[in-house]
Amino acid sequence: MEAPTYSSKQVAEMLGVSPKQIPEDARKEAYTPDDIWELRTTLNAFPARVGHRRQLFLNFKGGTGKTSLSTSYAWRLAELGYAVLLIDLDSQGHATKCLGYEGEDFEKTLLDVLVRKTPLAKVIQKSTLPNLDFIPSNLTMSTVDLALMPMAGREFKLRNALKDVEAQYDIIVFDAPPSFGLLNLNALMAANDLFVPVLADFLSFHGLKLLFETVQSLEEDLNHVLDHVFIVVNSFNATFKLAKEALEALQTHYPEFLLPTIIRQCTKFAQASSEGRPVFVADPTSKGANDIQAMIDNILPRLVAAAAAAQKKGTQQAG
Ligand SMILES: Nc1ncnc2c1ncn2[C@@H]1O[C@H](COP(=O)(O)OP(=O)(O)OP(=O)(O)O)[C@@H](O)[C@H]1O
Ligand SMILES: [Mg+2]
Repeated sequence: MEAPTYSSKQVAEMLGVSPKQIPEDARKEAYTPDDIWELRTTLNAFPARVGHRRQLFLNFKGGTGKTSLSTSYAWRLAELGYAVLLIDLDSQGHATKCLGYEGEDFEKTLLDVLVRKTPLAKVIQKSTLPNLDFIPSNLTMSTVDLALMPMAGREFKLRNALKDVEAQYDIIVFDAPPSFGLLNLNALMAANDLFVPVLADFLSFHGLKLLFETVQSLEEDLNHVLDHVFIVVNSFNATFKLAKEALEALQTHYPEFLLPTIIRQCTKFAQASSEGRPVFVADPTSKGANDIQAMIDNILPRLVAAAAAAQKKGTQQAG
């Protein structure tokens, strides 16, 4: 994918400044991601700190929007100025494709890190945004569960591998495959926050129950507590009576986890993924882009508040 270009209005919005604040000698018809990064540095227009979050998009059920949501979320956070690493955990390589790359073109994946002890930094790739990196995936990743099976400390491989690089990123986003195995267990153990994309249908309920049981057993058996769990309703179509009923059932059963922002069904969103372009590039005015932005607007203040509270606690303990 070619690097996108942006209008001054978009740039001002991404930097959180008014268009007039862009210095006259830096004004252009179209801005590249590098131009924007330079401006961000000049204006010191960095977003509020969120600490170092590791966020997993997971649902054992297939086709609920894990990849569409995780890739557009990661992309938009990078556009807003966060340093982001997107890790494609799925041997289908769809997250890699959504960024405009073919997984098969990459020699190394996370398999090399988890199984062959390649340092994680060696498999990180640069995207077309200067502050968005990714780890690609391809079919070779399909053997990872089997390869991990006989290993000691097999649940902690990913968490340990991330230690060398996590300080470089504000947010690490994982796109999980729709399966229930050691790789996803590694991802859960590496994550602070869990995003569960669900479709508003009753079949999704079954998968949710299993997922919440797994999360609970992680807490009990492996002593790993997630900071946040967000259920995100995706591909919602309010004209379907069943979808409205399913949403009400989610509100009844999971009120504390359900995000108030819903991602509506959006053809342009689906089209963008199939073309290997993030929806914010393909059509930043689409319902899909607007809804992901609304989700970010809902979540970011909570992450900023959590980071501030953790810092305060750290300072108090140090003092
Ligand atoms: N909000 C939406 N509106 C319309 N289509 C969508 C939306 N979200 C996802 N889709 C489409 O639904 C299909 C499944 O989405 P996606 O690949 O993101 O799901 P997934 O959970 O990652 O699937 P898998 O379990 O195979 O990894 C894709 O064709 C995608 O383009
Ligand atoms: Mg997927």
